[in-house]
Amino acid sequence: MAKLQLKNLNKTYSPKVVPVKDISLDVSEGEFLTLLGPSGCGKSTTLRLIAGLEQPTRGEIRIGDRNVTSLRPGDRDIAMVFQSYALYPHMTVYENMASGLKLRKISSHEINRLVMEVAASLGLTELVDRKPGKLSGGQRQRVALGRALVRQPEVFLLDEPLSNLDALLREKVRAELKQLFSSQKAPVVYVTHDQTEAMTLSTKVAVLNSGNVQQLDPPHLIYNRPANLFVAGFVGSPQMNLLELKCQGNSAMLGNFKVLLPNLTTVPPEIVLGIRPEHVCFAGEDAGNMQARPTIQDVGTRKLPAPEAIQGEVYLVENLGMQNLVSVRVKGLESVTVRLLLPNDRLWNSEIVELVFWPQFLHWFDVKTGDRLQ
Ligand SMILES: Nc1ncnc2c1ncn2[C@@H]1O[C@H](COP(=O)(O)OP(=O)(O)OP(=O)(O)O)[C@@H](O)[C@H]1O
Ligand SMILES: [Mg+2]
Repeated sequence: MAKLQLKNLNKTYSPKVVPVKDISLDVSEGEFLTLLGPSGCGKSTTLRLIAGLEQPTRGEIRIGDRNVTSLRPGDRDIAMVFQSYALYPHMTVYENMASGLKLRKISSHEINRLVMEVAASLGLTELVDRKPGKLSGGQRQRVALGRALVRQPEVFLLDEPLSNLDALLREKVRAELKQLFSSQKAPVVYVTHDQTEAMTLSTKVAVLNSGNVQQLDPPHLIYNRPANLFVAGFVGSPQMNLLELKCQGNSAMLGNFKVLLPNLTTVPPEIVLGIRPEHVCFAGEDAGNMQARPTIQDVGTRKLPAPEAIQGEVYLVENLGMQNLVSVRVKGLESVTVRLLLPNDRLWNSEIVELVFWPQFLHWFDVKTGDRLQ
């Protein structure tokens, strides 16, 4: 199987609309790359450039040792799955899946074998004689996937394939996708604005904003070491707390409390401190609650140290069933969101609480550039 390479890819529609700015990345055999970013950031355009549905203004696209930049879509050996399924309504499931193979010189016996094998892996065997109009959304999406899979292309491209499905079905098909592609060798480029899909499916994620790659890393690094404020704010739900603090000596001032800064060559007058809601807790909170949090291993059974606590006032408690989101107003700051895994019935609005930030989970960012410091 061949590696997909994008080299300094650029697409300019007009001086003001430049949806793809100098994107360079590789997707190797067995890799699942997700392009993740907000609406309009250039995800679909990048995918369409790879597919050959658009021509880049600059840059190169390679599949293995082939430069495919100026090849027609049909000559690139790429299979693409669209959000809209794009099935032929007058054809059966079988014919839709076989449609990409008929153009090639493959015997009808071999086509039948390939289609039925993929149909079975997608649970579509019983439906091969139906037309798309008589299928559910999830089934249609599986047919669109099946049509891509039977072709055994060099590269798979998927553009928001789950976004037309309802929440439950999306979870189900997402899990199926993960299993399906774990046994595929061809590089996959997957487009979504849904961070859960990006985190669960990918071997690596490229976070895009305004046509630029903000960070290209495996999901755990995107989450645990966001490269800048954009990534920190975009990935994670509830969003990471991002607090703009004044610096004094080697500390940042959080109300009256001093937070030790990381080793910096020069201390700026202001800095952004990032901390995820699951890494803030209440002083004196039983460490049992903390232990339930998957990312914290080294808490032990001790009570959290009260002297390091920051006082605030609860102004919103949102019960999400398995967790509570508590919004706390801290003097001099906008708000801090705390995620509690245990039900906390004793909390109510206007209650004064003491917050503890876990020092090993602090993120620091430059106020001006937004870049991660450390
Ligand atoms: N053919 C075109 N001509 C002019 N501008 C275009 C064209 N296609 C896309 N754009 C613009 O390029 C930008 C990126 O569009 P693109 O479809 O790549 O975004 P996206 O990240 O896929 O967004 P979404 O999540 O909403 O699908 C948008 O501002 C869009 O308006
Ligand atoms: Mg799009």
